[in-house]
Amino acid sequence: MKKYKDIVGDGGSNIVGQVEAQQVRLRERLAGVRAVVAVVSGKGGVGKSSVTAGLACAWALGGARVGVLDADLNGPTMAKMLGVRGQRLPFTADGVEPPRTTLGVKVMSMDLLLPSDAAPLTWDAATQDEAHTWRGTMEANALREFLADTSWGELDLLLLDLPPGTDRLVTIASLVPRLAGSVVVTIPSDVSHLVVRKSITVAAQTGAPVLGLVENMTGLFPGPDAAALARDAGIPFLGRVPFDPALAAACDRGTPFVAQAPESPAARALTAIAGEIRVALAARVA
Ligand SMILES: Nc1ncnc2c1ncn2[C@@H]1O[C@H](COP(=O)(O)OP(=O)(O)OP(=O)(O)O)[C@@H](O)[C@H]1O
Ligand SMILES: [Mg+2]
Repeated sequence: MKKYKDIVGDGGSNIVGQVEAQQVRLRERLAGVRAVVAVVSGKGGVGKSSVTAGLACAWALGGARVGVLDADLNGPTMAKMLGVRGQRLPFTADGVEPPRTTLGVKVMSMDLLLPSDAAPLTWDAATQDEAHTWRGTMEANALREFLADTSWGELDLLLLDLPPGTDRLVTIASLVPRLAGSVVVTIPSDVSHLVVRKSITVAAQTGAPVLGLVENMTGLFPGPDAAALARDAGIPFLGRVPFDPALAAACDRGTPFVAQAPESPAARALTAIAGEIRVALAARVA
């Protein structure tokens, strides 16, 4: 698709037509995906990406066909956490073939496209002043492109790892034709609960069901009860993932923690939460 600066003043580009065509491709592409689920939190650093990676691996171990789209364009981490960093992206007539992890999880991330570690994603605008205004639109365009041009094939579940801020979920919900739901992540702190409570409200307003709340890093410090937060918000509480340095190390190495230490409390929790979400999804489809 042409960039904004390419079409300014040319008067001849059918930008609306291009977006519509891409939206049609996206719908066709996602037709083979049984459920798209977004992992969100208004709060940064609470473990959205780690939980996404853990859930994806737990489902794959259980025999599901799973994909992960790293929707964090400016701080992509999924390729690293899932161990596919540096892999080539074969471009076929059918689109981009996503790399697969050792457990068979298909991964697409901006990290696989950026030329070097230090290169940040920059948004082209006609002037620097416009860069900020254009960011939201360009992000939506880039995500639409990712979803439409990746050859996902048949999947039972496509997980979307969102950047912090629930407003991002609003963008995703407008792009994905049938978002099966969102999973909200918090840590046991008043500060996180303060922000996440708002996130749950925004998530509910997107129209996609809020599948539940996950407490991550349980035990790291004493804090408020996430089960109570979920109850007050009227959403299911999915469980608690204990703080475990081995989980952080596995994320850094890009190895699947749930397969590596399946008996650890954190792996058991992730596997149980993955099961809860599958049950919730099955109930909605039935
Ligand atoms: N349960 C846990 N036990 C130990 N370390 C954890 C746990 N969950 C996450 N971490 C570690 O905490 C750090 C932040 O996690 P992560 O990147 O998943 O958070 P995030 O919410 O995705 O952040 P961002 O808002 O920047 O996207 C990572 O180094 C990760 O390995
Ligand atoms: Mg993240």
